[in-house]
Amino acid sequence: TSDAIGIHDLSFATTRFVLPHTTLADHNGTDIGKYHTGIGQRSMSVPAADEDIVTMAAAAAAPIVARHGADQIRTVVLATESSIDQAKSAGVYVHSLLGLPSSARVVEMKQACYSATAALQFAIGLVHRDRSHRVLVIASDVSRYELDSPGEATQGAAAAAMLVSADPALVQIEDPSGLFTADVMDFWRPNYRATALVDGKESISAYLQAVEGAWKDYAEQGGRALGEFSAFCYHQPFTKMAYKAHRHLLGYCGHDADKGEIARAIADTTTYNADIGNSYTASMYLGLASLLDNADDLTHQAIGFLSYGSGSVAEFFAGTVVPGYRSQLRVAAHRDAITQRHPIDYAKYRELHEQSFPDDGGDYSAPRETAGPYRLAALSGHKRIYEPR
Ligand code: CAA
Repeated sequence: TSDAIGIHDLSFATTRFVLPHTTLADHNGTDIGKYHTGIGQRSMSVPAADEDIVTMAAAAAAPIVARHGADQIRTVVLATESSIDQAKSAGVYVHSLLGLPSSARVVEMKQACYSATAALQFAIGLVHRDRSHRVLVIASDVSRYELDSPGEATQGAAAAAMLVSADPALVQIEDPSGLFTADVMDFWRPNYRATALVDGKESISAYLQAVEGAWKDYAEQGGRALGEFSAFCYHQPFTKMAYKAHRHLLGYCGHDADKGEIARAIADTTTYNADIGNSYTASMYLGLASLLDNADDLTHQAIGFLSYGSGSVAEFFAGTVVPGYRSQLRVAAHRDAITQRHPIDYAKYRELHEQSFPDDGGDYSAPRETAGPYRLAALSGHKRIYEPR
């Protein structure tokens, strides 16, 4: 249809290394059932010393630029909550690594795990203004909690890149959105800390409150009825959270929460996140990739999206899947990104976790570890030096 705007292409990248939850459980004596069943996580992506949000973002976006060219990309929006600089947008490094045209604007967005959805809506607005424009939206994050804390098992890292355009090949994004904001301290990371602070139980109830609030507004804005959706992509700090959230939404709407119905709506969205862990801004879009890549034909079906960022902001919106979408998917590349990671032992994980770059800002030369297309080579004179691998 001629006024459609949405996601034309979707690609993700993750890290070189992976820590299986069995290794973490062996170290800390946790029953593996808590990880595999209780939170629904099997392994977590761990960045190599020469990987960060920029190298993952560029790796996620490169196949999109290779397929569609860069000419009509007028805007790059990079969403993250694990930024590498307080002033310069990480997207400018990505713009350079990908050789994008100088006639583009680049900006970074932040609101915890929510900001990629703000970026998507910003992109849709820009394309609405000029339908020839394309916007590259990239969500990239490293989730890092303190060693031996309850959050540790929910770490992860990945980037998701989307090309937003008119007449999209994958998912058409609909109006209206349901919006919700509340000032809560469930999860935050002050500027002087490398790891996030979190009140685990508070964060789960803040998330559920936000689901309710965003859905309530969505209904008031005249959105679709709950029964019209064939799947729901939730933000997944750990995959069990999507099930909790959906059960909560069904309860709020007065539906009986049938286990089979919940699984049908959620299971296909969790495949990648269970192996990657929390990727903050990218998480819900990895959920979409997982759904499109792994579910039976979804043509013309409506998908519900619930984007949540602690602090907190949430948005519920709908998308419909475009005929022919399957020929555009990157199923093999996505599965390879997960299966080709190199498992590390607990000692290597701990070394990588503790080795955040010299916080005195001294010079640093990174060992060659990544298998991705770009690497962080060094810190030199307070500058980050990136290069193709
Ligand atoms: N076999 C099976 N299940 C088991 C088990 C076993 N042996 N042992 C425990 N479980 C179950 C528990 O019953 C529980 O399930 P329910 O919640 O369904 O009852 C689950 O495993 C987790 O157990 P606990 O609640 O005891 O776990 P915990 O207190 O150690 O930590 C956590 C869980 C709070 C999620 C913690 O991992 C954490 O703080 N994570 C970071 C914060 C987070 O992800 N919050 C989510 C909402 S905020 C958000 O979404 C933004 C974001 O990205 C951070």
